[in-house]
Amino acid sequence: MWQLLVIGTLVVVVQGRYENINVKQDWWETAVFYQIYPRSFMDSDGDGVGDINGITSRLEYLKELGVDATWLSPIFKSPNHDFGYDISDYYSINPDYGTIEDFEQLLKKAGELNIKVILDFVPNHSSNESDWFIKSSNRDEYYSDWYIWENGHMNDRGQKSPPNNWVSLFSKSAWSYMPSRDQYYLHQFGPSQPDFNYRNPVVVEEMKNIIKFWLEKGVAGMKINAVNHLFEVDKDVYGGRYPNEPITGKPGIGPDDYGFLDHIYTKDQEETYDMVSQLRDVFDAITIRDNLTRVMMSEASTSIKNAVRYYGSGNHAGAHIPFNLALIADLNKNSDARDIKYTIDRWLTYKPLRKQANWVSGNHDKSRVASRFRGELVDAFNMLVLLLPGIAITYMGEEIGMANGFVPWSETRDPRACRTDDPVNFVEVSRDPVRTPFQWSNGKHAGFSNADSTWLPVAEGYEQLNVAAQRSAVRSHYQVYRSLTALRMRPAFRLGRYESLALNSDVYAFKRWYNDDTYVVVMNVGRVYHVVNLTAFDLIFGQLEVEVSSVLSSRTYSDSVQANYLDLAADEALVLRMQV
Ligand code: BGC
Repeated sequence: MWQLLVIGTLVVVVQGRYENINVKQDWWETAVFYQIYPRSFMDSDGDGVGDINGITSRLEYLKELGVDATWLSPIFKSPNHDFGYDISDYYSINPDYGTIEDFEQLLKKAGELNIKVILDFVPNHSSNESDWFIKSSNRDEYYSDWYIWENGHMNDRGQKSPPNNWVSLFSKSAWSYMPSRDQYYLHQFGPSQPDFNYRNPVVVEEMKNIIKFWLEKGVAGMKINAVNHLFEVDKDVYGGRYPNEPITGKPGIGPDDYGFLDHIYTKDQEETYDMVSQLRDVFDAITIRDNLTRVMMSEASTSIKNAVRYYGSGNHAGAHIPFNLALIADLNKNSDARDIKYTIDRWLTYKPLRKQANWVSGNHDKSRVASRFRGELVDAFNMLVLLLPGIAITYMGEEIGMANGFVPWSETRDPRACRTDDPVNFVEVSRDPVRTPFQWSNGKHAGFSNADSTWLPVAEGYEQLNVAAQRSAVRSHYQVYRSLTALRMRPAFRLGRYESLALNSDVYAFKRWYNDDTYVVVMNVGRVYHVVNLTAFDLIFGQLEVEVSSVLSSRTYSDSVQANYLDLAADEALVLRMQV
């Protein structure tokens, strides 16, 4: 018999055997978040660029997947040098994507479907085309100090050169000259992305206002981008000039490369954590007023010890969801089962005890799972993201196993790749391959757009690899993904405990259980067949039943397997349930 239980703000449908559950969970604590890169999701007006109405028209698809919330890469007004990660007006919508009315319509429809909407907010820098920067460049009294300005340095040949050796994440000097001020401005990313001055309280106030503005519009939260870059070292401590950063001495890295320097003065500065806590107060004020949590997600590419500081401590709350990028940053093609176990357990070890973990396997910056590992492991990675304890975050297309597209130099748009000026080696840094249009069908431009051409080319192979094909197939990544989101509604995955083992160097397994309902997720990430014994886990014995199997597995739903003798084909991944 199925019953309906209300848990805090969360409604969970559970079977009779889970009747005793009365644990409170807020809506976001075990939610599935789906990242949309708006430019590439769905084009509704035939200009070859995805847009807001396109997203609205596909919200049912998100519902079908079992997604609870979507976070949209930036949709604010931008000249698109970094496609929205360079905002020129934080209070308006990029006309490429539509209007504020379109966005309100999206919120309305999402609300009807009970899908929350999260916006990506870029507080480290604006666009160099923002009014604020233009005024600052002209020493407007109010805006003069909004950005990081510094006098040049006279080099040995008597020429003006950048204030110090700082290198941008997009390579080359992090300083660009502005004739109107006869000064250099700092840009930790591209020259079109000048860094704000967080030591100016007026800037901080403005950032809080922006967050407030969009939360009042009805969004369920904001993702704070590149948060560990907000502060630079306080130059007053260094006699009024920003000091050089030390050279790492890493072999094969030139002075134009970001890795050339150890970024001790430009990232992870102590002041950042207090700033995050101040921003969190803005979310909390509205949460308390409305009695509905507005979540703060934060993104920082940093060490694990710094990453978990974004959870906050003591009376200083941090982000609800500081992104855990470990599955992306710490695993690669050569990783084996032991590396997977180590990476997962490491995050859980560093994470503060009572905070929620989160799992991210891809985003708009990093190679897709099918390319970073291999296509055969797509289901295994979705099992990790969706069945490990905590929050699941899926980048659009990972549910169907999209692979990186090939984008030639002539069609390359990513500023990081363009800045290399290198028509051969740009591929090593280009992020375009993971941003190619979403593959809806085998139709024109994969069903993404009916324009003559699209802003990035559609990836090869879309004729076979697309939503429509996987929807109608009996077995597909899409079907596996849906089974997993349904499964994660069960208390064992929402509330249950976790234990893991590398059964050998190829086979990773974890157990989730709540009361007497127990599951084992097991995956052979190696290239050869293995027989494993699941009784290595405490209280796993007898028969287990298949709940979900990877696409190429010979097993299907409700097949029985023996705990003490389980043969696993290469790449096979299974979710098994203990029989009681
Ligand atoms: C985003 C990138 C962007 C950069 C600069 C990163 O955190 O994920 O896509 O280029 O910030 O805003």
